[in-house]
Amino acid sequence: MDRLLSVSMLSSNFGKLDDNVDMVNKSEADWFHLDIMDGVFVPNISYGLPIIRTIAAKALKPLDVHLMIVDPDRYLEVFKEAGAQLLSVHYEACIHLHRTLHRIRALDMKAGVALNPHTSVELLSDIIQDVDFVLLMSVNPGFGGQVFIEHTYNKITRLKEMIVKSDSPALIEIDGGVNQRNAECLYAAGADILVAGNAVFSAADPQQSIKELKV
Ligand code: DX5
Ligand code: ZN
Repeated sequence: MDRLLSVSMLSSNFGKLDDNVDMVNKSEADWFHLDIMDGVFVPNISYGLPIIRTIAAKALKPLDVHLMIVDPDRYLEVFKEAGAQLLSVHYEACIHLHRTLHRIRALDMKAGVALNPHTSVELLSDIIQDVDFVLLMSVNPGFGGQVFIEHTYNKITRLKEMIVKSDSPALIEIDGGVNQRNAECLYAAGADILVAGNAVFSAADPQQSIKELKV
């Protein structure tokens, strides 16, 4: 399996959005990671559909949209129309997760389920066959630039075991506090996709930083 890197635009300078999209296009990154926060599911509000559409118009790589919102079912079609190719919803925000994931797939997007740090991976045992990727939050969702929670390694190991045992196609995405010091260990532990925001946009040379994160 390839090691994929999804760049979180949350930490980018939105006054230079075009340049930042160009930078990701030219880099070794694989996807754009777009964080949608509603101020209810998480204690922060990020950006919405106009920004997604602006990025989609210029992006040469898939848009990996991470919905940190309550009742995401209301917006699946809208995010598809805005340009999402991968869409993740939070386990904690979905009452009918099976239905939600199938609707995402029916809209021809890859269906992801995101877990907060306190949510056990074992809760996915009866849905893992219906998931294209699992996004493990390695910080509490809501903000970029936070410190990586080390217990995530334990969750990766248990999730990988479940995926292999159940012959599921699901990939593992790690989101939050990823940097040049832990990227290699995370891939080695079983992560397929790493998300990085702060480690990219706070670097003097973001393209070089992306290269180093892909190890
Ligand atoms: C946090 C978001 C993350 C965040 C990652 O709620 O889901 O995608 O932007 O940012 P860093 O890499 O700065 O931790
Ligand atoms: Zn995210």
